[in-house]
Amino acid sequence: MRDVLSKSFVLTALSFALARVYSYLAGDAPVTARRIPSIAAYFGTKGRYEEVNPHLIDNILAVNKLLLKPPSADCTAVHLTAIVRHGTRFPTKKNVKKMMELHKLIKAEASSPERWLEDIKNKWAMWYTEDMDGQIVDKGRDDHKHLAVRLANYFPSLLSEENLRNNRVKFITSSKHRCVESVIAFQQGLFTHHGIKDVDFSHEVKDDLMRFFDHCRRFVEDVENNRTALMEVDLFKSSAEMKRVQEKIADRLDVPYSRITTDSVEAAFFLCAYEFAIKSENSPWCELIDETDALVLEYKNDLKQYWKRGYGHDINRKSSCTLFHDIFRRLSEAVNELRTGHVTEVATVQVGHAETLLPLLTLMGFFKDETPLTSSNFPEQERRTFRTSHTVPYAANLVFVLYKCPEGPRLQLLLNEKPLALPNISDPVPLYDIVQEHYRDLLQGCNFQTECELKASTCSKCSEL
Ligand SMILES: *[C@@H]1O[C@H](CO)[C@@H](O)[C@H](O)[C@H]1NC(C)=O
Ligand SMILES: *[C@@H]1O[C@H](CO)[C@@H](O)[C@H](O)[C@H]1NC(C)=O
Repeated sequence: MRDVLSKSFVLTALSFALARVYSYLAGDAPVTARRIPSIAAYFGTKGRYEEVNPHLIDNILAVNKLLLKPPSADCTAVHLTAIVRHGTRFPTKKNVKKMMELHKLIKAEASSPERWLEDIKNKWAMWYTEDMDGQIVDKGRDDHKHLAVRLANYFPSLLSEENLRNNRVKFITSSKHRCVESVIAFQQGLFTHHGIKDVDFSHEVKDDLMRFFDHCRRFVEDVENNRTALMEVDLFKSSAEMKRVQEKIADRLDVPYSRITTDSVEAAFFLCAYEFAIKSENSPWCELIDETDALVLEYKNDLKQYWKRGYGHDINRKSSCTLFHDIFRRLSEAVNELRTGHVTEVATVQVGHAETLLPLLTLMGFFKDETPLTSSNFPEQERRTFRTSHTVPYAANLVFVLYKCPEGPRLQLLLNEKPLALPNISDPVPLYDIVQEHYRDLLQGCNFQTECELKASTCSKCSEL
């Protein structure tokens, strides 16, 4: 297995190199550049992991040990907890429907002599079906296999063959099919890396940890089932910025402005994003949207995440209290074990959703901008830090690494394999005590039951929940 994997890497690398030489001789732009849509960095939660780590485009197993290393030579990693989003997946049923409608409209009504439009109308066939409904794709399995191998290379003493064989690495997942498939792919990546063939690995399904948002009744009532909670998103959909994007797309297709709705715009963006994420293709759909349009659409998606999963409503972050406590319980247990001997659970890999990671990052105070994201401040938010294209692409991962150091245990955070400084702590890898002190209020409070219960006065549909 290991051999097959590495051979296919060599072959792929070789064919890329050859293709590059040919295209160079033919006077084309480099192949890898042509294969990436100019708007690929703005796909938000539908973005490819490689866009946040471009060095992986040429070598998916590349690890940068200069960037990611212990705080000092005297420190050794003793535990890691990784919270990972599932890999690349198919569109949901709702979005497949939107994509089909746009495709139909273009085939029937669009006319322009552009080559890309010819390609959409005559060469491109609609292959998405409603029953694909959010399932994982092969690329999504690879996302996790490769991530597992890179993490094993970064932390060889933790994700070691011995620790795997002795069940010192724990796997937890959300019950969703795409998450279960991801955790299995992650395990396969580790086995292949170590050449392990004779061990069956298991995982635990824990929705209270990985899909806490479904279990928080106050979130469901106040935000999820409440149209007004996402009012800013609706307002932005009818903004001048969005109208302009619709008109530009209508012009490119040469159809009346009234034919292109916000749904059609979204569908075009999705089609470009999915053809790229799933098949690595820079499809003709990408010609419908330029970079200026993509920034508007990226903002629309960020607005939604901000109000539904981020700082927009306090219950969004509070709904992740259980997961937050669980992570720090593991870390504290490891710290206690360090005092007396060795750590028993050396690694925990937990697979969930963008909707798992965003509230947790928000609870911990990351990516908080000075002004809230609203429908009217798109221009001022150009340099916002709350940017899902950077934080939660497919296979996004937040890793907590505990180090044993002479001066005491230290905690390092990594987001998508890059160091992430804790808000308001200047030390990039602070002592664990300092982190605990920093989050004291959350560690002692932030009670899921209290935060998520419905207040009697506002509980209009309690019996239905
Ligand atoms: C819905 O959201 C709005 C805006 O956040 C809020 O004022 C209102 O109380 C919410 N309604 C319910 C039933 O939770
Ligand atoms: C960081 O410090 C500022 C100023 O003291 C404070 O307003 C902010 O809430 C702090 N952020 C976090 C995440 O603790």
